Amino acid sequence: MNLHLFPRRGYVKQPTPIEWLPRLSERLGVEVHAKRDDLLEGCLGGNKTRKLDFSIAKAISQGADALITCGAIQSNHCRLTLAWAIRENLECHLILEERVKDTYDPKGSGNNFLFNLLQANSVKVVPGGSDVHGEMERLSEKLIAQGKRPFLIPGGAADPVGALGYAACAQEITGQLLESGQSFSHLVCASGSGGTQAGLLAGFAATNTPIKVIGVNVRRPDRKTQEDLILGLTRDTLSLLGFKGEFDPSQVHCDERFLGLGYSRPSETTLEAVRLLARTEAILVDPVYTGKSLAGLIGLAREGYFKRGDKVLFLHTGGFPALFTYLELFPEVVGPWAAQGGD
Ligand SMILES: Cc1ncc(COP(=O)(O)O)c(C=O)c1O
Repeated sequence: MNLHLFPRRGYVKQPTPIEWLPRLSERLGVEVHAKRDDLLEGCLGGNKTRKLDFSIAKAISQGADALITCGAIQSNHCRLTLAWAIRENLECHLILEERVKDTYDPKGSGNNFLFNLLQANSVKVVPGGSDVHGEMERLSEKLIAQGKRPFLIPGGAADPVGALGYAACAQEITGQLLESGQSFSHLVCASGSGGTQAGLLAGFAATNTPIKVIGVNVRRPDRKTQEDLILGLTRDTLSLLGFKGEFDPSQVHCDERFLGLGYSRPSETTLEAVRLLARTEAILVDPVYTGKSLAGLIGLAREGYFKRGDKVLFLHTGGFPALFTYLELFPEVVGPWAAQGGD
């Protein structure tokens, strides 16, 4: 796998740490480590920095001066695209899809607040189920008519170019394991628009690394639909990489059971995961993405899925800025503390 063939901006300056989580491991009876992509650079970190490293490089190589992208109303991908656009001196236009009706609050906190603070060039909110790609195309035509050179990045940077970021991450992990002499039987990550899981699968296939990747559905309720999406994107990424071997479809594993009530709607297992990681390791996950992928890991551990000697790598893909928009989900924390005046 020769990633040097692709333009890249160098947003990932050093490998993110792989940290043992001793207290969580003890609670679960399985050895768990975290790959800390929540610590990546960009404004407050997260997985999209790796993808945008390649996507924005492509935009710049084509002479773009404006980025257009889309996501949910609390999109981490939109925050990071905006953040990197600022650093690259590019315009950034966002289309936000209100996937859960009446949840958009123009005065909202978390990523909504950051879109305003960082000053996106434009933000348009469209109802859930809208033709978001069509919206981006129409905006692009408008900007071209104004003499701009816009570049469209798909939601989640979920195309083969963006997925290269996670093929690079797979290579990074393989290098870290060689150096430390460690090995992992499983990697658990969130699976939404799919580029993270597909990029990892492509990267591990191309480097012949036998780690079983389990994607926890955070958006689609149907396992097969998500697995088909991941398979297609993995194959396209491998083909972009010039991989000549066969990719075995049985390597694609998604688990829909930890989605909770639907996209961005957590269940009690998600909230338990958020609390547990905070209280055992002081690491924050969010109720939309990483709380669900961690709930998946916890659920699998409790049902005895991992065998004696298995070692599990939890890919922390970030997302914690949205945690602060969900305070009402943690009344036991907010209420008594506030009542006692806090200290
Ligand atoms: C924090 C976080 N983790 C995981 C994901 C899912 O990654 P992917 O869209 O590559 O499947 C997202 C997607 O937006 C995210 O924001």
